[in-house]
Amino acid sequence: MSVKITESVTWVGKVDWELRKFHGEEYSTHRGSSYNSYLIKDKKIVLIDTVWEPFADEFVNNLAEEVPLENIDFIVANHGEIDHSGALPKLMEYIPDKPIYCTANAVKSLRGQYHKDWNFKVVKTGDTVNIGSKNLIFIEAPMLHWPDSMFTYMDGENILFSNDAFGQHYATELLYNDLVDQSELFQEAIKYYANILTPFSKLVVRKIEEFKSLNLPLDMICTSHGVVWRKNPMQIVEKYLQWANDYHENQITIIYDTMWGGTRKMAEAIARGISEEDKSVVVKLFNIARSDVNDVITEVFKSKAILIGSATINRGVLGAIAGFMELVKGLGFKNKKASQFGTYGWSGESTKVLKAYLEASGFEVVHEGILKLWSPEGKDLADCKEFGRDFAAKVK
Ligand code: FEO
Repeated sequence: MSVKITESVTWVGKVDWELRKFHGEEYSTHRGSSYNSYLIKDKKIVLIDTVWEPFADEFVNNLAEEVPLENIDFIVANHGEIDHSGALPKLMEYIPDKPIYCTANAVKSLRGQYHKDWNFKVVKTGDTVNIGSKNLIFIEAPMLHWPDSMFTYMDGENILFSNDAFGQHYATELLYNDLVDQSELFQEAIKYYANILTPFSKLVVRKIEEFKSLNLPLDMICTSHGVVWRKNPMQIVEKYLQWANDYHENQITIIYDTMWGGTRKMAEAIARGISEEDKSVVVKLFNIARSDVNDVITEVFKSKAILIGSATINRGVLGAIAGFMELVKGLGFKNKKASQFGTYGWSGESTKVLKAYLEASGFEVVHEGILKLWSPEGKDLADCKEFGRDFAAKVK
């Protein structure tokens, strides 16, 4: 399948409705994804990125129906990750000498993965290639989200080929941002930002400011996952600026792991206390052992504060919450408040361990937390409710 999206650009990617896990098992994709590749036909014929390796044959066959492969003048590899470069080895079997324009770091990542000495043409920010009636201008975007990432801007039709940036893992046959369900689109966009781009927020702001300072007109953003932003493409750029700026909503998220239900009872009592203290705050609870971690990361991203809880086991905490906090630590959330709660039968280390996780993850721990013996009832649950009230007041 191909879709002509402008006079000179045709979408030649792959919509992957079946994908449910991405980055190995690291990222859940409830709504599938797409690997967007674009063919530009001007005096020169240029291919921007390819697709994931399992679809390489399908991609190359489809591409050959659009253009005789030998007529492709060069390829632009905006990023070396396998979901965009995976079909390169297959394609290069047909056109082994054609140049591949990419960053110096992409030469390393492509060579490192495919061990081929293709005809790389290294480009830097500001380098421009004339393709006939238009120019391609390259803009390096290191660590958005790999060292090799770059954007390619095409004048004339004013299109930014942004690769991963502004993308979403979202399969659709409708292709354009204005045609799809807006709540689904923005839910997938914020999940993508929260789980992939949070650690690089400072760079996101700098890169957007740099792009704005170039004063290049922008009619369309062609990402490499999900929709093409053709209607008000700046809306997703403005969203990124908001999300990159220590984003939060009026939400408190409670995340816990429970062995026999005692920590769950605490979580529920704490939630009641929060809601009594602050009638406007959104409170959400997740048993992390039964939840999708990427969805919960998105909820943490949206939260002004979080509470984490666990039963004590072997002088530590339960495995699911420990694994989750490792993920949280790596993302480096900023400007969020937190505290901890837990249960124990004898030694009682869970809240100490959780507090250490929160501090190591950059949260401001604003309350000493609460620890209860065995399965709390009566006065103990009233204490939890009071803790919830106190916590809500501190983060109001
Ligand atoms: Fe970083 Fe979509 O690959």
